[in-house]
Amino acid sequence: MLPTVEEALKELETAGQMNPGPWVKHSMNTGLAARNIAENVPGMDAQKAYIVGLLHDIGRRFGVTDIPTHVYDGYRYCMEKGWDEAARICMTHSYLLMSDEFNYEPKTEAEQAIKAYIAGCTADDYDRLIQLCDSLAVDYGFVILEKRFVDVTRRYGIMEGYIKGWEVAFAIKENFESRMGCSIYDVLPDIGRTTLLTPKPWKPTGIEGALKHWDLNAPRIGEQFNKDSGRLIYKITTASGDYLLKGLPDSTPEDTVAGNVKAHLFLGNGHGMAPKLYPAKTGEYYVKDLGHWFYLMEFIDGRQMEETTEDEYKLGQATRKMHALQGYSDLSPMTQSKDRYYTWFRDKEFVKEFDAILDALPDFSKLDQCFVHTDIGPHNAMLRTDGDVVFIDLDDSGIGSRYLDLGWPFIMQFVDFNDETEEMTYRFDLAKSFLRGYYGGDGISREEYDLVFQGAAQMHISYMQAYGPYAVDSLWKILRFGMDQRQMLWNMIHEDEAL
Ligand SMILES: [Fe+2]
Repeated sequence: MLPTVEEALKELETAGQMNPGPWVKHSMNTGLAARNIAENVPGMDAQKAYIVGLLHDIGRRFGVTDIPTHVYDGYRYCMEKGWDEAARICMTHSYLLMSDEFNYEPKTEAEQAIKAYIAGCTADDYDRLIQLCDSLAVDYGFVILEKRFVDVTRRYGIMEGYIKGWEVAFAIKENFESRMGCSIYDVLPDIGRTTLLTPKPWKPTGIEGALKHWDLNAPRIGEQFNKDSGRLIYKITTASGDYLLKGLPDSTPEDTVAGNVKAHLFLGNGHGMAPKLYPAKTGEYYVKDLGHWFYLMEFIDGRQMEETTEDEYKLGQATRKMHALQGYSDLSPMTQSKDRYYTWFRDKEFVKEFDAILDALPDFSKLDQCFVHTDIGPHNAMLRTDGDVVFIDLDDSGIGSRYLDLGWPFIMQFVDFNDETEEMTYRFDLAKSFLRGYYGGDGISREEYDLVFQGAAQMHISYMQAYGPYAVDSLWKILRFGMDQRQMLWNMIHEDEAL
C-alpha cells in the first residue's frame, strides 16, 4: 500500500513545517531521481519509485534526530498510515550493507527493531534505487556519487564501513545503468552544473533549544566559531557570565564524548588548566539533542597563545605542571608502540635509514607515564587575562608517554619548512624557551634530553602519512633535519647556563 503522489507531497510539506531543514528538498530530489531512473528500467514502476523516494526520510518530521531514530520513526509513521511499501524503504534506505551493517548488538530500541527487520529482508529494486538516490540527491539538486561521499565524510569524519558502502552504491549504479542502457546521470537534470557547486553546510536553527538543558540566566547565542568544521561552537552570553557551547555530531561514538568530558573534568574542573564544564539539569555533563552531543564549557577570557619565546616558556611551565598531576587513570588513545611504522614506506629509497631510526627508538610505554595532551603547542593553548595557561582540545588526553608528549613540538613545530624553496630553519629560540619553562633551574640530564628527541622523532613519524603521499618526501627531509639539530640545541642550552 502507498499514498498517492499528491498525498506524499502534502505529507512532506506538513513535515517541513514541523521540522524545517534541507532534508525536505533533499527528499523531493530523491523522489525525482528515483522516478527518472525507474522510468528507464524495464519492469519498474516509476510512480512507486517517486512516492517511496519522497517519503524515505519522513521520520524527520519529528525533529532533528540521528540515523536509526529517523529510520524507525519513519517506519512506524508509514505503518500507522497503512503504507507498508513506503515503511519498508524508510527502514532500508540508510543501510547499504543490509544485515552486514549489524555485526553488533544494538542498545537502543530503534536499532534493535531495524536490525531485526533487515535480517528478514532481501533488498529489492526499490530498496536499492532509494539507497542510490539518497546519495545522489542534495537539497540544491543532484550530484555525482564521488562528490557526495567526500562531502559527507568531510562533515562527519570517516567511519568504519563507509568505503564498503561506497562500493555497494557504485555496484547499484552499474546495475541500473546496464538495464537502462545509459548513464544514470543522463536522466538527472542539471547534474553537471550542481555537481560543481559547494554551498556552505547547513546548520540547524534553534540552537537555543540545546540551552534549555542547562540552568542559565537569560542566555543568548553569540558568535559562532570554527564555522567550517563539523562542530558547532557558540559563545553564549548570560546575565551572569559567558560560556562556550560545543556540539559534536552525534555520529561521534558516545565513548569518545564521555572520555573527552572526563579529561575536562580532571584538567579543567579539577585543576583549572582546561576550560571547566558545567553540569546539565540532569546532572550529566553532556546531552544528546538536535543531532549533536552538546556540552557547556567555561568561556576563557584571554587570548590564543603564540609562537614567541615568552609564550613557549609559559607553555613549558604549564606542561610540567600538567605532567605532574596525579589521580587520573583513563588511557590516552595515542599509540605508544613503534611497531606499525615498520610497515610504512617499504617502496621508498630511504626505507633502510628509516628502519634504523625506528630501531633506535625506545619502547615509550615502558618509560614515564603521566597525564598527557598529545598535541601541545600555542595552537592548543590560551592565556587567561590573569596569566594562567589553559589547554584546549583534549580529544586525545589521558595517561600516555611523557616523552612523546614533550617531544611533539621539537620537530613538528620547531622546524620551519618553506614549501616553495624547501629551505629549513630551526627555531632554537622557541625550543630553548620551552625547555627552560619545563625543566626550570633543575636542568635536564643528557639521558632525558635524548629521550625527548627520540619522542620528537616518533611523533613526527606518526604524522608522516597524514598529509598524503606527496608530502612524504618533504616530511622525511624535515625528520632528518630536525634530528640533526639535537647536538646543536644541547650545546646552546649549556652555553646559556640559564637552564
Ligand atoms: Fe535521505
